[in-house]
Amino acid sequence: MSHMHVAGSIHADVAAPAPVWLTEPEDVNVLTPKLWSANTRRDSDGVISIAGMRVTDLVEQVGTPVYVIDEDDFRARARRWRAAFEGWRVFYAGKAFLCTAVARWVAEEGLSLDVCSLGELTVALRAGVDPATIGMHGNNKSMDELRLALTSGVGRIIVDSSDEIGRIETLAAELNVTAKVMIRVTTGVEAHTHDYIATAHDDQKFGFSITSGAALVAMMRCYHSDRVDLLGVHSHIGSQIFDTDGFEVAARRTLKLFAQFQEATGSTMPELDLGGGFGIAYTKEDTPIDAEEMASGLREIVRHECAGFDLEPPRVSIEPGRALVGPAGTAIYRVGTVKPVDLGNGATRRYISVDGGMSDNIRPALYGAEYSAALASRASEAEPVLSRVVGVHCEAGDILVRDEFLPGDLHPGDLIAVPASGAYSRSMASNYNHVPRPPVIGLRDGQMETLLRRETLDDMLALDPGAAGKQA
Ligand SMILES: Cc1ncc(COP(=O)(O)O)c(C=O)c1O
Repeated sequence: MSHMHVAGSIHADVAAPAPVWLTEPEDVNVLTPKLWSANTRRDSDGVISIAGMRVTDLVEQVGTPVYVIDEDDFRARARRWRAAFEGWRVFYAGKAFLCTAVARWVAEEGLSLDVCSLGELTVALRAGVDPATIGMHGNNKSMDELRLALTSGVGRIIVDSSDEIGRIETLAAELNVTAKVMIRVTTGVEAHTHDYIATAHDDQKFGFSITSGAALVAMMRCYHSDRVDLLGVHSHIGSQIFDTDGFEVAARRTLKLFAQFQEATGSTMPELDLGGGFGIAYTKEDTPIDAEEMASGLREIVRHECAGFDLEPPRVSIEPGRALVGPAGTAIYRVGTVKPVDLGNGATRRYISVDGGMSDNIRPALYGAEYSAALASRASEAEPVLSRVVGVHCEAGDILVRDEFLPGDLHPGDLIAVPASGAYSRSMASNYNHVPRPPVIGLRDGQMETLLRRETLDDMLALDPGAAGKQA
């Protein structure tokens, strides 16, 4: 496709430089497959359709901003991870995005489910998920959370502190049950990722340190407790991980702990959970490895380390979140303002303001996450222009897509789609600036299903006794 030159101030000046990893596309209309859900394409008239639904038709019915999840894409990823890890257990990490429909899909595809709060556990139970397939996380679980976990019969509580072991023992005695637990350990491994989302180094809030000996002490305490059934050990080393190196070190240190436990007690530790964090492509430069490659790498690591410590291989589980729901989700926004901003050195940056922002996707503002974007409501013959997609909030850091080439003729009213938006965006949404949270729509075979409806001003104002029920 040829590009016509777009006249105007943007092109009169020098455009702001693109980051080194971002190359100008030959055709700004092409959708890079690894970024988009499997059933996303551009129709012959240029409109993007997802799972048989044109985004223009969708927003006519539900408005913008809106998050969509390509259900078949999600299910296919769930099946693929389950098949690749055959014989291991795959827990979907619900924190990435959870609602009753997604919990149901997870169960129907034969996966287990991780939750980490009273709210997430309640969603899972209301969805009818078998409690035995649920794992309960949290570094500061309340008595209410632990009580619901124990009375509903969740399959495992992943224990994070000595205080928690005490609380579980008290509650289990009161309820006359035995609590099935795993001990969360920190292996000292920091995954190759942004520091703020790496969770396995020792100086952080999660887990018991292996290095300090706290992990073995916690395991021994659970092992000797009448009220606790110690199932195994859990390690999670970070997020957006693209190779197996970090898992190898974490598995070695954890399995050494298994060997120490076995030596101390004469008993084997039955289960090992290697956590989640498997990376996805948010931009063209991201090159995640696929489920099969990750599975064969992790299997070999566990086999090799078990042989090294002369251990019976434990039953292993993993907890992917974003790898399942991230690529299945797309955010759709409407462009409101297009503003060339003079950078003072003769260069100009084009700011595209859309009708969402950091309240529906905090990741770029929180830890500099990068995303991609495309014009969704039409194709364009215009030249690509380096652009920054920003939101409606009163923060200069309210950036959704820091750098992307978008058509030079982008204008108010256009729709923009942000792929790979299914994980940790709507699930981390806030009401900053009293902006209601967008809906989540499931799409399949051209049909839509409301997974979460749009929040209304009345929903929010109902919390404010001075505003509830009054007219503006
Ligand atoms: C304990 C645990 N397991 C699994 C995950 C899922 O990570 P991801 O969505 O990157 O796979 C997280 C994410 O923070 C986590 O903390």
